[in-house]
Amino acid sequence: MRTALLSLTFLLAGSMAAPAFAHTAAPKKKVTATTKKGKILPMKEYIDQLMAKMTLQEKIGQLNLMVAGDITTGGALDTQVGSDIAQGNMGGVFNIKGLDKIKALQEIAIKNSRLGIPLLVGMDVIHGYETMFPIPLALSCSWDTEAMKKVGEVSAKEASADGINWTFSPMVDIALDARWGRISEGNGEDPYLSGVMGAAMTQGYQGVDMRTEEILRANRIMACLKHFALYGGVESGKEYNTVDMSRVRMMNQYLPPYEAVVKAGVGSVMSSFNLIDYIPATANKWMMTNVLRKQWGFNGFVVTDYASIAEILQHGTAKDIQEASEQALKAGTDMDMCSNAFVKHLAKSIAEGKVSEEDVNIACRRILEAKYKLGLFSDPYRYCNTKRNKSEIYTAENRQAARDVAAETFVLLKNEGNILPLKKEGKIALIGPLADTRNNIAGTWSVAQEPSKYTTIKEAMEHALAGKATLLYAQGSNIWRNQELQKNGESGKPINWGNEAEMKAEALKIAKEADVIVCAMGESAEMSGECGSRTNLEMPDVQRELLAELLKMGKPVVLLNFAGRPTVLTWEKAHVPAIMNVWFGGSEMGDALCDVIFGDKSPSGKLTTSMPKTTGQEPLYYNHQNTGRPVADDNEKFAKFASNCLDVSNGPLYPFGYGLSYTYFSYSNFRLSSQETGISNEEATEWQDGKKITASVTVKNNGSRDADEIVQLYIRDMVASISRPVKELKGFQRIHLAAGESKEVSFDITPDMLKFYNADLKHVIEPGDFQIMIGTNSKDVKTMKLSVK
Ligand code: NOJ
Repeated sequence: MRTALLSLTFLLAGSMAAPAFAHTAAPKKKVTATTKKGKILPMKEYIDQLMAKMTLQEKIGQLNLMVAGDITTGGALDTQVGSDIAQGNMGGVFNIKGLDKIKALQEIAIKNSRLGIPLLVGMDVIHGYETMFPIPLALSCSWDTEAMKKVGEVSAKEASADGINWTFSPMVDIALDARWGRISEGNGEDPYLSGVMGAAMTQGYQGVDMRTEEILRANRIMACLKHFALYGGVESGKEYNTVDMSRVRMMNQYLPPYEAVVKAGVGSVMSSFNLIDYIPATANKWMMTNVLRKQWGFNGFVVTDYASIAEILQHGTAKDIQEASEQALKAGTDMDMCSNAFVKHLAKSIAEGKVSEEDVNIACRRILEAKYKLGLFSDPYRYCNTKRNKSEIYTAENRQAARDVAAETFVLLKNEGNILPLKKEGKIALIGPLADTRNNIAGTWSVAQEPSKYTTIKEAMEHALAGKATLLYAQGSNIWRNQELQKNGESGKPINWGNEAEMKAEALKIAKEADVIVCAMGESAEMSGECGSRTNLEMPDVQRELLAELLKMGKPVVLLNFAGRPTVLTWEKAHVPAIMNVWFGGSEMGDALCDVIFGDKSPSGKLTTSMPKTTGQEPLYYNHQNTGRPVADDNEKFAKFASNCLDVSNGPLYPFGYGLSYTYFSYSNFRLSSQETGISNEEATEWQDGKKITASVTVKNNGSRDADEIVQLYIRDMVASISRPVKELKGFQRIHLAAGESKEVSFDITPDMLKFYNADLKHVIEPGDFQIMIGTNSKDVKTMKLSVK
């Protein structure tokens, strides 16, 4: 399904080989999920009874997760996966689409395996199922937690109607380096925002806190927090690269979003590919057990990423796969995705006294508990509902939700002379390789997508303009000048390859006739995502050159920049009058874009990553430490012997939190209810004498259009025992203001907002001065001082 996954098949040669210790024939005895009165036993009792009947190999079998491959429903039992399920050697399967196929596998588990234990059925439902939402990085630019919940709910509804009960989402890896392709899969560079968005998505998927015993409704699915942990810290943004960072940095900057999702009740966690303190995450007991379980109270199960146990050998920290399996289990990893390692080696390791049977029991119980909470023991077919399958996928309602959310994710970067919104009149030329592609608009990780059902940007514009204006279209260029490069970035989502000169001539011809030119250019879908790292983040030459030619005509030009990451738009900012970052907006992107381009809605997205001026500035992020020789971000002049570069000044091209609207907001009357306070107790849970400290500002819509604004709160700790960031996001509110309307926006400043992990990794608040900042983005803020005694 994914090239990255296919490349790992060498590790899995022979698929599911026989376990080291053959399946011991035990008497056939099905465990019924219900008592005689038809009510399911309480979880512990039920699982105790079930586990008492399981052989060691059956317990180990529950720890095994494999790709199902493609099966024909009639012959499922004859496949490797079918026979593995029947033998009790499989706890779950993933990335298989089709209710009949899933049902066929579930039937094998129920009818042909000795104990009839149902399967977990997973899929990378990352930003929607058939109704696709924008890529996660785009979603984060909505700063809309209700929308994130909705994304989770709709995704769960559709996936569960098609046999899926488990998704490998949310991904909350902090990504500071835009060269890393997987920056597209997360919520950007801020730990607070990423945690809030990940938690909301988790609630949407599950509907319940899986730390409790509450059973999920049949239209919800279990979420999986990933990639635990620190995957976004790969050196130089190169895929699967080494990660090395201090624990202070982990605690303050990288781990908070994972913790937030655990606290939201996520049911499962996926270990990451990278090293943590030079130990592969999958085998890192400190992270998987001490931090995740003991410190944060996670009580679900941990699954590895794809073949991560086998990859321990490549990292050079185990001599063979048996030892790697032992390390993983002992570290607190419960389920093995695609290494075939637990199922082949753990029984032998137990016999040799290298791991205890109790460790297997613990892992097995955690997986069975998840199945219990998914309601699978009461009804193993509850996710195989043919009625729901026909009526709940890609519905008008779900598509409308995707369209509404998508419109919130576009970030207007520049709008000189108010070119946008466009009027529906005259002749509009739509040009660019992303303008008429059906399979690219959903972006990376769109496993269940059905592009044949989707509308391209061109088709949506034709529809929006019908009878009012003329749309002229030309592809204009390839994505890259080099066909090989274009292929590398395709992964099953090809873009038409054409003759460069002919395509350009055609584009110039229609542009000449047009009143306004709209360019749909940038990255194709698979130029970001897994194994989509780049060393040059500028628009490929062939597209840039066409854009330059079009600009020479002196007509109004709008650039719709397609991107799975913050790309470098320095040249474009200098030359193109209007630029909107449109990411990959999902199945309804075409209509959502029309809503915004033609002014039915005002753009409201704000960047969740700093946009660099050059690739060499990466990693670039707003919440950095001061150096001993700081230079102000907006200081354009080079300063000798200070922390800056000869050729480019420090600041971003566009800062974190930035995004324009079709209207103008003003901020005034910024005030703090008190500028001084003390802490009440040792834990610093509240201010002295129950005092409440509120930061307030008046925000006014000064334009003639109703619109949304995202009001942002930042805090800086001026002096502390460790160096603290120059500012950190601590709160935000997305508000709606009618034209001319003003609103008071208030944030409660809590002691928690001022806390950090010190050099002893204690979460503390240190008295002293703090800057409290409120603004429309991370750069344009109003500041006041708060003193904590
Ligand atoms: C590898 C990816 O790293 C992970 O994000 C994904 O969930 C798994 N493969 C399963 O497809």
